[in-house]
Amino acid sequence: MSDTKRVVELVEPFAGRPGELIQALHRVQSELGYVPSGSKQSVAEIVGVPPAEVHGVLTFYHFFRTEAPGQHTIRLCLGTACHVRGADRVLQALMDELKVGIGGTTEDGVFTLEGVRCLGACGLAPVMMVDEEVHGRLDPGKARSVVRDHRTARG
Ligand code: FES
Repeated sequence: MSDTKRVVELVEPFAGRPGELIQALHRVQSELGYVPSGSKQSVAEIVGVPPAEVHGVLTFYHFFRTEAPGQHTIRLCLGTACHVRGADRVLQALMDELKVGIGGTTEDGVFTLEGVRCLGACGLAPVMMVDEEVHGRLDPGKARSVVRDHRTARG
């Protein structure tokens, strides 16, 4: 089943409930990992709002993504504690290694890179998570190794 068809199923319980648009979109994202761009019109029709409203919510809340995420999500903390300990340099290393910016997914669909505010592990700054795994006390070289290890483990 295509992702767009799946969206229709997921949004059906919110039919005719315009006040629950955000909940409907959350449901889609938590099941599929994203809200496909091509499904905006269907979501609007089912929930009963103008398509522009769906578009507005998806662009206003950074939490929502409209492109399929990679197999692994790297969340690099850009919060204060991590920032003062060099998160910027780690970010640059990750962007060079992955050839994507924040919010981007690598060409091979393996990694999505995200920047987040605080991972609650400030004592390990700078920190990133790869899926559920925490990697702390990073420097550019260590961050690159983590990415390469994931690629090796996969292949
Ligand atoms: S500021 Fe980075 S984990 Fe808290």
